Amino acid sequence: MDGARALLAGLSGAGDTKPCRRLYPHQWSWDAAFIAIGRARVDQPGAEGELRALFRGQWANGMVPHIVFDPDCAETYFPGPDFWETWRSPNAPVRPLTSGIAQPPIHATAVRHVFECASDRAAALSFVAEMVPRLAAWHGYLRNERRRRGELTEIWHPWESGMDNSPLWDSALARLRPRDLPGYRRADVGVADPEERPTDDEYDRYVHLVDGMRRVSYRGDRIRAATPFAIHDVLWNTLLTQANRDLAFLCRLVGADGDRFEQWADAIAAEMDDHMWDEEAGLYGNVDVVEGRRAAVPVSSAFAPLFAGVPEPDRARQLVETMLGQAVEWAGGLVVPSYGLGRPGFSPRRYWRGPVWLNVNWLIYRGLQRYGFSDLAAQVRQGILGLVRRSGFREHYDPLTGKGGGADDFAWSAALTIELVRDGGRRRASIRPDP
Ligand code: DGY
Repeated sequence: MDGARALLAGLSGAGDTKPCRRLYPHQWSWDAAFIAIGRARVDQPGAEGELRALFRGQWANGMVPHIVFDPDCAETYFPGPDFWETWRSPNAPVRPLTSGIAQPPIHATAVRHVFECASDRAAALSFVAEMVPRLAAWHGYLRNERRRRGELTEIWHPWESGMDNSPLWDSALARLRPRDLPGYRRADVGVADPEERPTDDEYDRYVHLVDGMRRVSYRGDRIRAATPFAIHDVLWNTLLTQANRDLAFLCRLVGADGDRFEQWADAIAAEMDDHMWDEEAGLYGNVDVVEGRRAAVPVSSAFAPLFAGVPEPDRARQLVETMLGQAVEWAGGLVVPSYGLGRPGFSPRRYWRGPVWLNVNWLIYRGLQRYGFSDLAAQVRQGILGLVRRSGFREHYDPLTGKGGGADDFAWSAALTIELVRDGGRRRASIRPDP
């Protein structure tokens, strides 16, 4: 615990915490939420400040950008502000500079957790009152800009998923034709092992997609009309379901009407069940909006819907069965690798193509608790803490050996360890099923 707190303190700046020192030297959106969830247990003002700092970068249209840049480190990361050119959009703030895309919408869930961990509820209520309009604008953006027909919201870049090089994106990326790419130089492979990072070919495709968005000044209507990459992602829509429920709860706390968020949560959950559930594979699959096709890929995020209470109990049992077929035993417990062991393209070390990530395992842990699978939840908790004991607070872990990969001192791994230790494996009211 002391080590985790010291690590977070060392990565914290003016309110924000960097995911790690060299590889990600700015503030990232979903990282900030996971970091706040852990910090809430030990440092309430720090947890509030983390989310406040992130929302300083919120766009006028409500979007919460995936990166808020630290101007002192602009040169050391690619793609930095000069590449994003967000000044092309009238919605982007002048300061701080940000990226032009988003990341999974888990922020209302984090705010609720921070509130529920506070010993001084009255003081925490003013933080909630401050955040509710910002969260409402963020969810409004998702509803207005990220839907076509139906209730599910779409992502426009693998970076938006947070699971950058997951096999989930392979078929959509394969149809891109990156031509006339702007010149760029990767910074990540200078500070991390290239064998653990996405490939150059994947980076060309990432850059191509950003280039397409900045050419249309990040206008949602134009991106929706022309993008070759639009996906209904399971994890994204799961987190939005839960975040809508949590936002409804927060609204009611401050005397605002939260019904519309509750209704939207129900509608997304129902559509996920209708369109994303794959009976044969026994898991939830992403839908490629451009091709109108669902694919069942054995990734860890396929089990995330448990976190938001999406499946009915029978389906939840089926999903847990599938998950058990994919989990690996570790330290007397269990963890779920980011991609099924031995599947085509599986790699125990390469980023989201096999390594275990603590954040998705933590979501699975919470989901198992939610459905009453207490023993299994305890095993996942044990597996996560066993990995941390073996290898420290790493970015990700080899599912075969437990060896750490990616960044050495990774903030959300420390924060979620604090959360798991403090939680003590008990079912808590925070991040609970329903308001
Ligand atoms: C990176 O730089 O690898 C990030 O994941 C992009 O957000």
